[in-house]
Amino acid sequence: MRTNLTGFALTVGMGLIVVLLGFGILSMAGLVGFSASEALAGQAAPATESGSPGAGKGDKAVLASAVTKPASPAEAQAIAAGDALFKANCTQCHAVNEKVVGPALAGITKRRPAAWVVSWVHNPAKVIASGDDYAVKLFEENGKQQMPSFAQLSEKDVKSILAWIEAQEGRAAYAPGNTVAVN
Ligand code: HEC
Repeated sequence: MRTNLTGFALTVGMGLIVVLLGFGILSMAGLVGFSASEALAGQAAPATESGSPGAGKGDKAVLASAVTKPASPAEAQAIAAGDALFKANCTQCHAVNEKVVGPALAGITKRRPAAWVVSWVHNPAKVIASGDDYAVKLFEENGKQQMPSFAQLSEKDVKSILAWIEAQEGRAAYAPGNTVAVN
């Protein structure tokens, strides 16, 4: 009876040890597997970033600017003013993301300095006549259609329009570092 009990206890004890060992090995394997996949993921991330430099950073900047954009009331005001001015004067020929009569204006603040756009909007014919390479090329590429002058728009008005264009781009392809200072 006693021997049997001891034998039984031993068998159960051994069984428990085996189960515990097995569990330990399994969880170790699980841990090893987990950290290995983590290490792989850790290696994959920088590889993707270096594969397309700028893209990852740009996305982050887009997010950052989208979040910080409406923070300034002055800028929000400029964007609202630009919206109204654009709709009143420009939508007939321009859209932000597609060509209408004139070119799509997305990215204009990257292509041209604000001062250029101000002179252009005030008097496109004058900028073309001045021999400005960009303007001459633009005019030729658009079938020599003459954009009208908007001499009545102030520099602030034009910069508001640019702020509005950038805010629109923000929803599609806003590139950081090109905010137009509006004052
Ligand atoms: C009657 C049509 C028309 C109207 C209205 C018009 N544009 Fe244009 N715009 C053009 C055309 C056409 C061009 C291309 C250049 C050319 O052919 O002279 C152009 C070019 C431009 C460019 C240069 C684009 C680039 O990619 O470099 C800017 C900036 C611009 N317009 C801004 C404006 C703004 C701002 C307004 C409103 C205040 C406006 N335009 C109103 C027809 C128009």
